[in-house]
Amino acid sequence: MEITVETATIKMLNVLYEIEKQSFKEEAFSKLQISYLLMDNNGVSLAAKVGGEVAGFIIGRIDFVRNRPVGHVMTIDVSQVYRRQGIGQRLMVELEGIFKQKGATECRLEVRENNVAALGLYQKLGYHQVGVLENYYGRAHGLYLMKNLS
Ligand SMILES: CC(C)(COP(=O)(O)OP(=O)(O)OC[C@H]1O[C@@H](n2cnc3c(N)ncnc32)[C@H](O)[C@@H]1OP(=O)(O)O)[C@@H](O)C(=O)NCCC(=O)NCCS
Repeated sequence: MEITVETATIKMLNVLYEIEKQSFKEEAFSKLQISYLLMDNNGVSLAAKVGGEVAGFIIGRIDFVRNRPVGHVMTIDVSQVYRRQGIGQRLMVELEGIFKQKGATECRLEVRENNVAALGLYQKLGYHQVGVLENYYGRAHGLYLMKNLS
């Protein structure tokens, strides 16, 4: 299966929103929120395609923490039919590479404490827990993870 990765643009908004809804149900970003993320000047948005079809996407952003650029993963979603075929990992690796090019030496993200698939992915890529975000997802806690990129 050939996976290609390209910049995700506002033209893909409808398909990205469908994948986001499928992935996160009531906790999904709204279409408007996704459009803001896609147009953010500090944002990095990538889409993975298989056979010309968008199979997944990732949106990150460079945050400035004490004037230092830090990568932040805002959302990563792979369409259900394409899961467990390396697309999530590929998107993360590509995003981290771009964060590094932009001068970030670390990448941070939040994940629901019971999201087994995402935790497995982040663990495989070397992320470690640096904090707990109490009731970040309603009654479920979030975990704050970090990885050194340098
Ligand atoms: C998390 C998600 C993006 C993973 O995408 P994916 O393309 O299926 O992941 P990959 O095929 O690249 O998997 C890479 C590694 O992640 C881990 N992993 C992925 N899915 C897993 C699962 N269901 N259970 C346990 N580990 C899993 C494994 O270590 C896997 O490596 P392996 O296949 O060699 O064992 C996908 O499950 C998804 O879109 N989930 C819904 C949205 C979401 O929860 N996003 C994260 C929010 S923080």
